[in-house]
Amino acid sequence: MSASLCVVPDSISAGAPRPPSIHEVGARIKSHEWVNGEYRLLVLDAPASILNCEPGQFFHLLCPQTDRFQPYLRRPMSIYSFDAARGTLSFLYKVAGAGTGALAELQPGATLNIVGPLGKGFEIRPEWQRPLLLARGVGLATLAPLARECARLDRPLTAVCSARSPELLMSTDLFRSYGAEVITVTDAEGNSGVESLTTLIERLIRSRGIDAFFTCGSARLMRMLQEMGARHGIVGQVALEQQMACGIGMCQACVRPFRRETGAVNLRVCREGPVFDLQEVL
Ligand SMILES: Cc1cc2nc3c(=O)[nH]c(=O)nc-3n(C[C@H](O)[C@H](O)[C@H](O)COP(=O)(O)OP(=O)(O)OC[C@H]3O[C@@H](n4cnc5c(N)ncnc54)[C@H](O)[C@@H]3O)c2cc1C
Ligand code: FES
Repeated sequence: MSASLCVVPDSISAGAPRPPSIHEVGARIKSHEWVNGEYRLLVLDAPASILNCEPGQFFHLLCPQTDRFQPYLRRPMSIYSFDAARGTLSFLYKVAGAGTGALAELQPGATLNIVGPLGKGFEIRPEWQRPLLLARGVGLATLAPLARECARLDRPLTAVCSARSPELLMSTDLFRSYGAEVITVTDAEGNSGVESLTTLIERLIRSRGIDAFFTCGSARLMRMLQEMGARHGIVGQVALEQQMACGIGMCQACVRPFRRETGAVNLRVCREGPVFDLQEVL
C-alpha cells in the first residue's frame, strides 16, 4: 500500500519551493535484531519514494495490536539510516512501553505501516567546518545520519557519545566508519556528568576549533551546550523528543515554547522541528 498526503505548510506562498510529499507505506521487515538489552534495530525494505530523507527527520510508525500490547496512536521514530540504492530504511529504538513493546514482537517478513519522512531535519551551514555532536540514549540513533552527512560534506566531526553503561553505547563504530573522532563517556565510569563534560568540551573547543554543536537525547546536556555556546559564541542545533499524536502538524499536541527575537513563540515539534536552533529552546 502506498498513498501520498501532500501536506502544505501554513506559511507557503506563491513562488516558494514545493514541500516534499509525505507517504504512507506498508514496508516489509527485512531484519529485526536486539543490539543490547534495551534497543532493537529494525531494517525495512522501503520504496525510493520515501528515501529522499534529511538527517534528523522522522517517521510515524503504526505499531501493531498484539495480545500483550494495544497501543493507540502512531509512535514517532528518528531515521537511523536510509539507503536509496539498497532500498532500506532503519530505526534504532528503545523498548519503552506499549507501542515499542508491540513493535518488538514483529518478525522479519511482516509488514509495518509507516508515514514519512516527517519534520525538519538538521542543516549543516557552510561556515560550520568543525562540528561536535553530543548524543545520549536515543540521541545516538537520531544523530547517526548527521554523522554520515558530515562525512559527505568533508567536515571533521567529533562525536561525544554518552550512555548509562558501556553496553548501552551505540553507533560508535558507525560514527568511526564516517571518519568521526569518537569519545565515549558513561555513568558507570563516572565521566558523563555535566562537570566532566564541560571540561572535556572546553578542551575540544581549544584543541579542535569546534564551531558548531549538535545534540539529542538529554535535556540536561542540551542546557549545558546552550550555556557553553553562549559563552564561546558557538551556535548549534538540537533534535527534540516530544510526545506526539498526529505527527503532521494538525493537532497541536506537540507544541512547546521557543525563544525568538520578538519574544516567546509556540511551535509544533513535529512540523517546525524536531530540529531547532540550540539557543531557541526554552
Ligand atoms: C521526533 C522523535 C524521534 C524519536 N526517535 C526515537 C528513536 O530513534 N529511537 C527511540 O528509541 N525513541 C525515539 N523517540 C521516542 C519514541 O517515540 C518513544 O520512546 C515512543 O513513542 C514510546 O512509545 P511506547 O508506547 O513504547 O511508550 P509509552 O508507554 O508511550 O511511554 C514509555 C515512556 O516513554 C516516554 N515517552 C513516550 N513518548 C515519548 C516521546 N515522544 N519522547 C520522549 N519520551 C517519550 C513516556 O513518557 C514514558 O515514560 C522519538 C521521539 C520523537 C518525538
Ligand atoms: S503531533 Fe499533532 S501537531 Fe504535532
